[in-house]
Amino acid sequence: MVDFKESIAEAVQPLVPELSKDEIRDLIEIPQDEKMGDYAIPCFKLAKFRHMAPDKIAKDVAEHVSGEDFIREVRPVRAYVNFFLNREEAARPVIAEAMDYENFGRSMEGNGKTIVIDFSSPNIAKPFHIGHIRSTVIGNSLYKIFDLLGYNVVRSNHLGDYGTQFGKMIAAYRHWGSVEEVEKEPIKTLLSYYTRFHREAEENPELNEEARQAFNNLEHGKEEEVRLWKWFTEMSMKEFNRVYDMLGIDFDVYDGESMYSDMMPARIQELKDKGLLQESNGAGIVDLSEYDMPPALITKSDGTSLYCTRDIATAVYRKETYDFYKNIYVVASQQTLYFRQLKKVLELMGYDWAEDCVHVPFGMVSLEEGTMSTRKGRVVFLEDVLNKAIEKTGEIIREKNPAASDEQVQEAAKIVGVGAVMFNELSNGRIKDYVFSWDHVLNFDGETGPYVQYTHARCMSVLRNAGEETIADAKDMEKLNMKYLNSDSAYGLIRLIHAFPGTIQDAADKYEPSIVTRLLIDTAQAYNKFYHDEHILVDDKEERAAKVALTIAAKNAIRRGLDLLGLKAPERM
Ligand code: ARG
Repeated sequence: MVDFKESIAEAVQPLVPELSKDEIRDLIEIPQDEKMGDYAIPCFKLAKFRHMAPDKIAKDVAEHVSGEDFIREVRPVRAYVNFFLNREEAARPVIAEAMDYENFGRSMEGNGKTIVIDFSSPNIAKPFHIGHIRSTVIGNSLYKIFDLLGYNVVRSNHLGDYGTQFGKMIAAYRHWGSVEEVEKEPIKTLLSYYTRFHREAEENPELNEEARQAFNNLEHGKEEEVRLWKWFTEMSMKEFNRVYDMLGIDFDVYDGESMYSDMMPARIQELKDKGLLQESNGAGIVDLSEYDMPPALITKSDGTSLYCTRDIATAVYRKETYDFYKNIYVVASQQTLYFRQLKKVLELMGYDWAEDCVHVPFGMVSLEEGTMSTRKGRVVFLEDVLNKAIEKTGEIIREKNPAASDEQVQEAAKIVGVGAVMFNELSNGRIKDYVFSWDHVLNFDGETGPYVQYTHARCMSVLRNAGEETIADAKDMEKLNMKYLNSDSAYGLIRLIHAFPGTIQDAADKYEPSIVTRLLIDTAQAYNKFYHDEHILVDDKEERAAKVALTIAAKNAIRRGLDLLGLKAPERM
């Protein structure tokens, strides 16, 4: 993207020799209020070198800076130097770049580097509930963002397919299970066996012994236990895949915890050799008291392995297999302490890449009372939420388009309903806990997925009505007359389109897709303002071409943003 900041820094640097061009660049702000210009440099920092009041320096810089073509005016306002771009000059390169959808926002910074993203990672035979969706959509969005920035990304679904709970599940199935029940509704059924196991084990402790034996057999590869465990996994995956299909989300590997169990003995030995493993009441631990953390649990008193041990094996495996630049875990903030422990253990093992392991935490979702039951014990399944979103969206779309066919309504309802739930997860700042509310999620006029998708469909409709000849004129950048894009609403939109590449970069640096959702909402609002303030498809050919060019640029920017969030950009709505 044309880099106005860079050019301003270049122009100002000779006047402030104490600072490098990059240091000046870092000072440049984008004022909230457009009246304060397109860019501003606060002069407080410069006052230190100059022994001069900041507002004097601002005046001095403004007077002496030599104007680049695209700078219309430089104005000192108190301690700030404000830069106003020449709207016509500035608009052309921005629109030209946004015309090329394929490359818009793309960069090569990640070339040759691999990022592993561990996300979604549900547990076999446990519900894929509303809380899991956050890991799934945030992880998927980070994948899209890093992919656009040129990284090679490995999407890893670290399935929870191992652990003592499988012994309980097997024992429970043997007592109360039925093939037909499980096949019909795998997870709900398996879960009900599991809950029953816990209830009955209180009265009948022998059940625990059965479970222990079953898990032991599983660990030792006994045929019957392995068969059941594989079957539970297969059945659960069927359900998970249905949800992934609805969300349009894929993974490169489904290497679950079980895959790493073979690699654990080597890591346990390594911990011993490095003098890190200690005994505590029969369990093996790594003492982390020196770092103000509870000990990391490596082996249990009965010799069985633990979550943490599998994660140590996983991290080493990933480094050896992918030589990752970053190994990212998108997991709820409840596990923040756990990931700090994991990282510390890897560091103590002498792996300098431990610092490249990043936990990307997120807050919890709760449900508004009344919309869905949150009564104890009733889990809300993601699939039900998505189906309900599609159904409700269908009703809204039907109301707005009485003439549409059922098929069209159904098609749009899928895209918009699922998109609404995903957008909602992403637009709430990652770390915040939030309350899920249907009215908010499906508000077509609010700061929502449907609103942004609707704006994309509006751009598409303008382009359909513009006709091919105008579109061809609009794409002829050299001939475009920018004077028609001088208005505040057109220019406000251009400023936002210009912000996309930098914002995408920022979202990557902070692992924060909500930065993209924010810009997307602002851009959609700006396009709608432009659409309402101005007549786009006017008779004058030149004016019409310029305004259609801006519509194409806006459409591409919105589509890029939607794609980075994992949402579809509908042609019609
Ligand atoms: N299955 C775990 C859970 O649902 C999440 C796994 C996250 N990834 C990891 N490598 N520990 O809590």
